[in-house]
Amino acid sequence: MNTPAWSPRRLDALDDAQIDALADVLIDCVEGGASVSFMHPLSRGRAVAFWRRVAQDAAAGERAVLVAEDARGLCGTVQLVLGQPENQPHRADLAKMLVHRRARRRGLGAALMRAAEATARECGKTLLVLDAVTGGEAARLYERLGWVRVGDIPGYALYPQGGLCGTTYYYRDLGG
Ligand SMILES: CC(C)(COP(=O)(O)OP(=O)(O)OC[C@H]1O[C@@H](n2cnc3c(N)ncnc32)[C@H](O)[C@@H]1OP(=O)(O)O)[C@@H](O)C(=O)NCCC(=O)NCCS
Repeated sequence: MNTPAWSPRRLDALDDAQIDALADVLIDCVEGGASVSFMHPLSRGRAVAFWRRVAQDAAAGERAVLVAEDARGLCGTVQLVLGQPENQPHRADLAKMLVHRRARRRGLGAALMRAAEATARECGKTLLVLDAVTGGEAARLYERLGWVRVGDIPGYALYPQGGLCGTTYYYRDLGG
């Protein structure tokens, strides 16, 4: 088994090169059929605009952006939405878990999840929430890592090429 020692890290500021690389990862995931908010084809301009908004939130401390690299550069990312209503200061949403197809099935998704959970703890968060395509690869990953399945919503979103998919909600109690 070829299992690289991934070293995910948090980016507080995203430069143009990092935004470009993150756009590549997002475009690759949408091309690969991942239901991650965007329809196919996702233009570079829209992908870059998405990451520029994320960069603003990261700079404002509203989001934590984690990234990981392989020998070719940035190939995986995940976010924590830290900014929450005032009655949920202990909670964060986990979002936009994306691994480039070239880097999949080598433990990067799991490494990003563990790093996100560690970052959440550092930020004083004790409860994480996410949703994922019902029965998909990501859902399998979250269940393997001990996330608690709450329930399914059928017909929640579209796949990038069309066709409805359900979503499943999960939570993770970091307080214990
Ligand atoms: C879901 C996703 C993030 C998983 O990323 P990943 O880096 O492939 O995740 P991992 O490598 O940790 O685990 C994936 C599989 O590879 C297996 N694996 C991990 N290391 C391995 C190795 N060294 N050799 C062989 N298999 C390995 C895992 O056991 C797991 O198997 P399973 O799917 O049969 O349960 C990735 O598929 C992705 O980006 N998908 C598109 C975007 C998306 O859907 N994001 C989720 C939004 S909620």
